[in-house]
Amino acid sequence: MLKTTINQVFKHVDEDVTIGAWIANKRSSGKIAFLQLRDGTGFIQGVVVKAEVEEEVFKLAKSVTQETSVYVTGQVTKDERSPLGFELQVKSIEVIHEATDYPITPKEHGTEFLMDHRHLWLRSKKQHAIMKIRNEIIRATYEFFHQEGFVKVDPPILTGSAPEGTTELFATKYFDEDAYLSQSGQLYMEAAAMALGKVFSFGPTFRAEKSKTKRHLIEFWMIEPEMAFVEFNENLEYQENYVTHVVQSVLENCKVELHTLGRDTAKLENIKAPFPRITYDEAIKFLQEKGFDDIEWGDDFGAPHETAIAESYDKPVFITHYPTSLKPFYMQPAPDRDDVVLCADLIAPEGYGEIIGGSERVHDLELLEARLKEHGLDQETYKWYTELRQYGSVPHSGFGLGLERTVAWISGAPHVRETIPFPRLLNRLYP
Ligand code: 4AD
Ligand code: MG
Repeated sequence: MLKTTINQVFKHVDEDVTIGAWIANKRSSGKIAFLQLRDGTGFIQGVVVKAEVEEEVFKLAKSVTQETSVYVTGQVTKDERSPLGFELQVKSIEVIHEATDYPITPKEHGTEFLMDHRHLWLRSKKQHAIMKIRNEIIRATYEFFHQEGFVKVDPPILTGSAPEGTTELFATKYFDEDAYLSQSGQLYMEAAAMALGKVFSFGPTFRAEKSKTKRHLIEFWMIEPEMAFVEFNENLEYQENYVTHVVQSVLENCKVELHTLGRDTAKLENIKAPFPRITYDEAIKFLQEKGFDDIEWGDDFGAPHETAIAESYDKPVFITHYPTSLKPFYMQPAPDRDDVVLCADLIAPEGYGEIIGGSERVHDLELLEARLKEHGLDQETYKWYTELRQYGSVPHSGFGLGLERTVAWISGAPHVRETIPFPRLLNRLYP
């Protein structure tokens, strides 16, 4: 018998095939049973007609329990009504392993219950769709940066430095030394850019933030490009082209998944470079005019502020030139004023918040040393980093895109905890 997978059935219309699958759901009447089959590649409906199969097969179709694993054999037929476009006319079923009392039933469950069963929840249709979209974003990321001539570089996870401030570090012992789990690979990527020109990384990062919002994870994955000889504006162009490529790739390659999630794709189709830009100064003025009287120049934006700004646009929006006092030590001052830096945060539409933080980096040795001092950072720890400014220093820029927030936005997931296989949250290390 021809063995295939659900995502390949389109090649076998009218043929008999065998698929290894799980019973995701079923319903039946006296004469017909419908099996929702899933095999990891997708979901397909198996139709078992009493009059057309052996008695044993129909009996089994009616009694088989949720999440039992099976080999199902049947004929692939076209079905215009299903999102997949195909059905399986089942002829026989072989049970591999019977599942009893699967805890996640088709009824509604609370979030805490589902999170406690995350290892099983991943099997459900929506979670499956979100993971496929996450995978497509990663695939499109590698495609974009390789097309643009970037080299993938892997910065260390165990580090001695703290690029994004010392308050959110996970400390650990490194034999006799103190070490931290990486909160960003950026500083190492700057070294890599001086060796390889245009580089990008993709890896886990850790923030010991006591935040309990729908946008914060303790462990999240970041894509961090860094580019030698690239200044502020060119950095923004890379960002908008990259985000455009990612969104358009998901639209092209995840149609079934977006449909499963009920995502409004018209909003995504519109996501094409260039993206609007406003300065921090303009954003503050805009918010004050909108009636936010709790915010003044020098304050950082909270989620409601970001959402209010994003609502004025139907594309992601860059907020540029933040006050120096709000940002890390490594950002290059604006040429005409030193109270703001050459940075930008990219705010996603529809209230999904900041998905990218980026900037031009300080490339002058003296200025960098002064900045380290101001931020109370140890010159010895950062000696290797300052040395990059000692030997052929060049203007350079980079950014970090948070994968989970991007997945949440594109898939329309309400909370970042559903966008990573096993989320690490303030009160959750299980499973
Ligand atoms: O703005 P952040 O902190 O920037 C950096 O780490 C820079 N060193 C990046 C660089 O220039 N190479 O983080 C970048 C992005 C944010 O825009 C956000 O999307 C995501 O990482 N992010 C988080 N995502 C989930 N949970 C958290 N706790 C996050 N913190 C940041
Ligand atoms: Mg940021």
